[in-house]
Amino acid sequence: MADRPACIAIAVLLLQLTAFANAIEPHLEIMPSGDTQTKPIGSSIILTCNPKVDNPELVQDMQWLDPQNRVIESLKLSVLPIERNHDLISSNTHTGHSKPAMYTELHQDHGLSLLFNSLQEEQAGKYTCKGTYAHNQPLNKSVTIDTIIAITWDDAPINQYPILGEDFSIMCRVRARPSPSVDWLYNGELIKTNDRYIINAYSLKIKNVQESDDGIYTCRASVLTTGELQERLIRVEVHTRPSIEEFPNPIDIIEGENANIECRATGKPPPTFTWIKTLTQQNLSIADRFGVDPVTGVLTITNVNREDAGEYQCTATNLAGTVNTNLQVNVIVKPKIMEFQNKTVVEGKSTEIMCKAFGRPPPVVTFRKLTADKQYVMGAQPQDDRIIMTYRPNDVSGETDGILTIQNALTNDDGLYECVAENAGGVAYKNGHLTVEFPPSFRNMPNITVYSWEQRPVNLTCIAESIPNATIRWTMFGDRTVENDIMIQVFGNGPISTLQIRPVDRRYYTNYKCIAANTHGTREHIIELKEATKPAELLSVKTVELTATSIRFDLIPPTPPDLPVKTITVQYKDNNQIWQNAKNKTWSVGSVYVIEGLKPQTPYDFRFAAMNDVGLGNWGNEQHEITPGRTVPNQPKILTTPGSEYEQSAFNNQYELSWLAPPDNGEPIDMYLIKYCQIRRVTGEWELVDNTCQEIKTQTRTRQYLKGLSSNTFYQVQLQAHNIIGYSKPGFAKFRTAKGTDTSVLQHQGPLLTSGAVIGIVVATIFIIFIIIDAIFCCVRKTGIIYIICERSRRKPVDEEDAKLGSLYGWRFPLPYCDQKMANVAGVTAIQDSGSGKNTIRLVKHTAIDEKEPLKEEKKITPIIDSGLRRETSITFDGKRSISKTGFVGKDSAV
Ligand SMILES: *[C@@H]1O[C@H](CO)[C@@H](O)[C@H](O)[C@H]1NC(C)=O
Ligand SMILES: *[C@@H]1O[C@H](CO)[C@@H](O)[C@H](O)[C@H]1NC(C)=O
Ligand SMILES: *[C@@H]1O[C@H](CO)[C@@H](O)[C@H](O)[C@H]1NC(C)=O
Ligand SMILES: *[C@@H]1O[C@H](CO)[C@@H](O)[C@H](O)[C@H]1NC(C)=O
Repeated sequence: MADRPACIAIAVLLLQLTAFANAIEPHLEIMPSGDTQTKPIGSSIILTCNPKVDNPELVQDMQWLDPQNRVIESLKLSVLPIERNHDLISSNTHTGHSKPAMYTELHQDHGLSLLFNSLQEEQAGKYTCKGTYAHNQPLNKSVTIDTIIAITWDDAPINQYPILGEDFSIMCRVRARPSPSVDWLYNGELIKTNDRYIINAYSLKIKNVQESDDGIYTCRASVLTTGELQERLIRVEVHTRPSIEEFPNPIDIIEGENANIECRATGKPPPTFTWIKTLTQQNLSIADRFGVDPVTGVLTITNVNREDAGEYQCTATNLAGTVNTNLQVNVIVKPKIMEFQNKTVVEGKSTEIMCKAFGRPPPVVTFRKLTADKQYVMGAQPQDDRIIMTYRPNDVSGETDGILTIQNALTNDDGLYECVAENAGGVAYKNGHLTVEFPPSFRNMPNITVYSWEQRPVNLTCIAESIPNATIRWTMFGDRTVENDIMIQVFGNGPISTLQIRPVDRRYYTNYKCIAANTHGTREHIIELKEATKPAELLSVKTVELTATSIRFDLIPPTPPDLPVKTITVQYKDNNQIWQNAKNKTWSVGSVYVIEGLKPQTPYDFRFAAMNDVGLGNWGNEQHEITPGRTVPNQPKILTTPGSEYEQSAFNNQYELSWLAPPDNGEPIDMYLIKYCQIRRVTGEWELVDNTCQEIKTQTRTRQYLKGLSSNTFYQVQLQAHNIIGYSKPGFAKFRTAKGTDTSVLQHQGPLLTSGAVIGIVVATIFIIFIIIDAIFCCVRKTGIIYIICERSRRKPVDEEDAKLGSLYGWRFPLPYCDQKMANVAGVTAIQDSGSGKNTIRLVKHTAIDEKEPLKEEKKITPIIDSGLRRETSITFDGKRSISKTGFVGKDSAV
């Protein structure tokens, strides 16, 4: 086979060579050259036949013959339809204006062209060009047209969508001539038939498609003979059928509200949704009050109707398929209470309170007493089994009867009750009243006796509780009747009634009976009217405190047979006056029975009487007292917690001291003197800490803050009241300050003392040693500074400079070393503990002035000098004379 074209080529070459050699041998030449022309179907071709002669004018009858040796018409001649070539003519040639499937065209140079509009498979074959030269020499030349079909994708969509889990054939229908062979590639790899892939003639079948089968597949077609190779890329995207997710079924929606019902589905590509109502097949996307979101699948119902209940269908659709599901929709109707009536029951009887409610589903009906915060529980109440709550729902009508049964009704069952109806749609409430009727009762009336005296009109009031209201009438004991007595008047006949009585004689002092009646019974209540009298004399009178200007009594009022004693009155006078001129004072019972403003050193007469509503009793219980003379105030009492050794301050740096003002004994208290010092406990005894004492004077207040105290420290405080005569005995107390952070210490984390403080301590220590030596010299050798000062103070009573010095020494090294008498005056005994070498100050409770000591010397009252050493003056009235005694008190002689 392969040899043939080569032979032809050689023959042609020889022929031409001979032609050149011997001028032109007449022949025909077909362009393009070649005995066989292989052309693809559908292509347009032109074959031109040229006569090769010396004189082209002599060429005649040029023709093309088809494979069936029919002459092919020229274009001009084929204006009319050529029926016989019907197979070869395209359908639009019937118009006559378009070109036929093949035709010829004659050229001026006597060449004849054969033209194919669109080569068809059937047009393949041998075509011959004929002609005549010089009238007798026939010319002839043939060419074979071989048709081929190029690779054509007949059915090979470039996007194909298999469905997950199913078998799928990827289509690739190829046409070609000669027939092609097809193979497949996926991700560049040749696919071989195996248990997943089956390669068919026109498709690749994938069994049980998975998502991983997504991708680009190559359908590759090749024709061996022509060497043609074509590839078709097919994108495969695995789709999933829609699947509707589970949702609650049935679903409840509430009447009158808007509802959203969601239908969710998965699938690839994402599905779209439609909803219909199953019964009517109505498409809800276009229905009134309904709305469908095709993307989210939400069905919206506006203002839900009862008729909206029923079955609905949701449909989800995507390219891979359609799925639907049915859903039952229940419309919930909010509860409504149709009937809850007021009820009346008689005490002790049973009743049922009924509450009718409606709703869908039928509501649960419960009750609550409006005064209680919790509803009753179903059935009998655990606390009160008289009360039973039940309800009967009716699923068909949607009605529920709630019943509250109250057995053996009590009066406190009376009141407002709340009926509560509840279902999934909401709650409804309604109140109703239960009236518990009961016979009259006097349970809230006090069992009192009414008193009158001296014909005073009185009211006897009777209140009868009952439902319905009771009527009241009165009777009285004895031989009279309430009616027709001008001394008795009745106001009201129920449920409140008042009897006004003017007891003009003893027979009105008797029992009165109030009789109340209603439909359920009659009850009686007795009120006694008694005659009241004035109180008797006091049971006991005692003097408990007597000062120069005041007296306090302990009084026990009489226990009255009828009306209680309200006040006690005392009359008092100087014993040489008459009672008409007496003064008086009235106390309410139970108060502090004190008379103030008495004169000192005066004999007094007192008499007492008690008073009640009737009046003042008789005077009696006469008492005689002589007030003592004027003197210093009594000892003030510091307010402390009873039973504790010391007070605890709430603060770490201060303490609030408060006290009771003592009786002033005839002269007003003008000042309080407060002294306080640090103390510490040494072997069970309290000991003063040197140099820590402070002094405060306050006017007439009875409280004082002591400030600037050290934290967590014990203090002793001494308080004296002062009047013009002098200082009282001191009152004492101990207290302790609270623990607290001392900021100055906290800041000194490093060396606790600054160098300045160290120098100060050293200087102070040297000074103290010097003083000790000086004191020893004072006592042993009678020399030194102290000795000189002592001598000077003995000679000159008051010298301010010396006094200050004296006070300083007097406290630290009490002057008793020099003058034992002064130490006694100061109220301090200092004892030197020779063993330890320490100065111990023991607190000795004796005062500057011993009041009981008889005074013999008469002195002038010297003015008080408020300096370090104070001259304390006491004035005592001794009959008609006044005697004063003066002593010295060291400034720091506290405690
Ligand atoms: C029930 O009693 C209340 C007062 O306690 C009253 O306001 C209401 O109108 C009554 N209801 C009926 C139905 O009689
Ligand atoms: C007694 O009751 C009547 C009527 O309520 C009233 O007018 C009168 O003032 C009352 N009298 C006394 C002493 O309470
Ligand atoms: C019962 O008595 C009370 C108190 O006096 C009064 O307020 C009420 O109106 C009466 N009720 C009837 C039904 O008369
Ligand atoms: C008490 O004294 C006042 C006058 O000081 C006098 O009016 C009054 O009647 C006296 N009261 C008694 C109970 O003596």
